[in-house]
Amino acid sequence: MPKRPPTASIVSTGRFAPENVVTNADLAARVDTSDEWIRSRTGIRERRIAAEDQSTAEMAAFAATRALDQAGLDVKDIDLLLVSTATPDRLLPSTACDVQALLGASNAGAYDFATACSGFPYGLAMAEGHIAARQAETVLVVCAEKMSSIIDWMDRGTCVLFGDGAGAAVVRPATDERGILSTFTKSDGTLAELLYRPAGGARIPIDIAVLDERSQYVKMAGPEVFKSAVRAMCDAAEQGLRRAGVTAEEIDLLVPHQANIRIIEATARYAGIPMEKVFINVDRYGNMSSASLPVALDEAREQGLLKEGSLALLVAFGAGFTWGSTVVRL
Ligand code: ACO
Repeated sequence: MPKRPPTASIVSTGRFAPENVVTNADLAARVDTSDEWIRSRTGIRERRIAAEDQSTAEMAAFAATRALDQAGLDVKDIDLLLVSTATPDRLLPSTACDVQALLGASNAGAYDFATACSGFPYGLAMAEGHIAARQAETVLVVCAEKMSSIIDWMDRGTCVLFGDGAGAAVVRPATDERGILSTFTKSDGTLAELLYRPAGGARIPIDIAVLDERSQYVKMAGPEVFKSAVRAMCDAAEQGLRRAGVTAEEIDLLVPHQANIRIIEATARYAGIPMEKVFINVDRYGNMSSASLPVALDEAREQGLLKEGSLALLVAFGAGFTWGSTVVRL
């Protein structure tokens, strides 16, 4: 694919993490697991868990407000609000409309999209497309997840992996050579049932049998998901670099989806990016699904690891399966 000047750029980011820290030791008091097992298999030490009455939309609105403040923009400047979530507060209407109401973003169109952990690269691709088509000028991409509400807290195979949080980015037309240099999105729906919630939707509505079987919660074939995640993250990294026309050596920071340190290490090795150039916060947050990537990007910027002009490779993989990447000059 030919190199092209950027159409859109990320002008600011923001994040929100609930205050409540749940450590591996806390989980070991609830299910048959240990700090050693969780750390050695995943790299996770602790995660943040939202209060029961804290909604996905509220977390999204906090992250969005920080991103808008950082950009020096007014909420009325937003003309499109895109929300990625696997944990909508309710099934109708969209969480994006709730976020719009909370923010008072009265000039925006708003919709949700469901690409699980890959939400941020997909959201950036959509934002770029809307801007390129001149349908929007200021797009707010928010990824917000209350994973604690869809996890089976009796299943040690999944409950140790996830956390809650939200991340946001403001995307506007590029004005110079900085901006989104490539987007890549891909899916494979034939593998959906390796990571899914069997019940709770239109096909199998909640009933007594569902509650007995706990099939409204996330079910995951861990080792199969692991293998697919490595394969897909590597593909996303390679495609992103190729489409942007840049080499691995030119990348200042790889910001991967934070599901598991071993998936991150395998992706970095394949992409040819040394671990010193890889951002990691999975130890402090666990897997916040689509929120992981924008939270990591916001922290990397705050820590000065990404400055104006830095080149970042963002890579994600999630349920669906979905995967994708973004190469961006900040
Ligand atoms: N504590 C202790 N033992 C456990 C736990 C736990 N929390 N969970 C599972 N085990 C046990 C299993 O029961 C099994 O025991 P057995 O041998 O007696 O049957 C043993 O540990 C090994 O289980 P595996 O599932 O084979 O363990 P594995 O080494 O594959 O690690 C893990 C499991 C961490 C889930 C890994 O498969 C993984 O990370 N997969 C990817 C999952 C992922 O990232 N999902 C997120 C969604 S997709 C995304 O965001 C990228």
